[in-house]
Amino acid sequence: MARLRTGILGGAFDPIHQGHMHVAVSVLDSGLVDQLLIMPTGHPAYKACMACAEDRWKMVVAAASADKRLIPSRMEIDRTGTIYSIDTLLALRDLIPDTDFFYILGEDAMMNLHKWHRLNEVVSLCSFLICRRPDHPLADQAESEKRRLISMGARISDFRIEPVSASSTGIREALSRGEAPAGLCVPVREFCRCKGLYGAAGKMDEADRWINQLFDALKPTRFAHSLSVADTSRLLALRFGENPLQAEQAGLLHDCAKCLPLSEMQKIARDHQLTQDESILSTGALLHSVAGAWLARERYGVTDPEVLEAIAWHNTGHVGMSRLAMCVCLADYIEPMRRDIPHLQEVRAMAESSLERALLLSLENTSDYVLSRGGFLHPNTTETIAWLKTQL
Ligand SMILES: [Fe+2]
Ligand SMILES: [Fe+2]
Repeated sequence: MARLRTGILGGAFDPIHQGHMHVAVSVLDSGLVDQLLIMPTGHPAYKACMACAEDRWKMVVAAASADKRLIPSRMEIDRTGTIYSIDTLLALRDLIPDTDFFYILGEDAMMNLHKWHRLNEVVSLCSFLICRRPDHPLADQAESEKRRLISMGARISDFRIEPVSASSTGIREALSRGEAPAGLCVPVREFCRCKGLYGAAGKMDEADRWINQLFDALKPTRFAHSLSVADTSRLLALRFGENPLQAEQAGLLHDCAKCLPLSEMQKIARDHQLTQDESILSTGALLHSVAGAWLARERYGVTDPEVLEAIAWHNTGHVGMSRLAMCVCLADYIEPMRRDIPHLQEVRAMAESSLERALLLSLENTSDYVLSRGGFLHPNTTETIAWLKTQL
């Protein structure tokens, strides 16, 4: 049986950006490794981090959720003391046997490889994939350093990638100026924004507690989706004259109950008489909205009735729903992390100019999709579609 090939992409990830993601996905797409560990370090040897290890970890988890082949690893965060790669490799060898390991490094990092602790042992335990950029200013020096490392037994392969202009320093500086840097994926950008990381503008008062609770309560893809819906809801609210903070709060918490077992949602709904509607009580796809509004109030401390309304009706809509609730319902459908579904681009285009028309189109698409699969369409959706047509 072929041995598993596991790549290791380490770094501070302060914060993780699209340059890192481009390297990770390019290595995987090339077939050079079967899976890839993204490993934020707890205490970087050569520099201090601006964000704490737990925040850098959550950002890595959110970003990596976009691709199943990316596996975030806490191994170096949970280790105390100075972090050395040799300890990581020794632990990985026991943890994932019958595996060949490949450290993925840029040219700059390769030039510092000679400083690695117990390098002779490191080179016996792993190979190196060096991401070479055609325009790198140190290309000649990197080539001679590579030859020197090979002569001492290192197994080194080049890997050419197109450069992506993103740097953690540039992104931190942009955030501190109140800008929204392009080099971050939407969930990470929203994470920085609502927590005020790196001096980002827009810090939300409750963000630290809410983000921690959501991170523990949700699967990684759902956590990233929630951040993305928060950002999209806020932008829609700004576009259509609604309160952006309320929209961002509702967007962030809208799926807070989504990963509970159905039995737990049903217990919450029955104990607190949230609904008598058996069709809602029987499926998590509908019940998580109602249960989520209750959780948002009781566990997250939301008291704003408009935010709670937006959470409670985010999947079916309802007749007479507020325009704030429309922003959240629509954001849930069009947020940029969502996988492509029929007519999604049309709804996104419509959301540039009309909140009601875009929401109507999204609910009609949902209706068509559910009915085409022989599923149950809740009357709230049908009634909201008819009501929205009267609002145009
Ligand atoms: Fe939902
Ligand atoms: Fe959602």
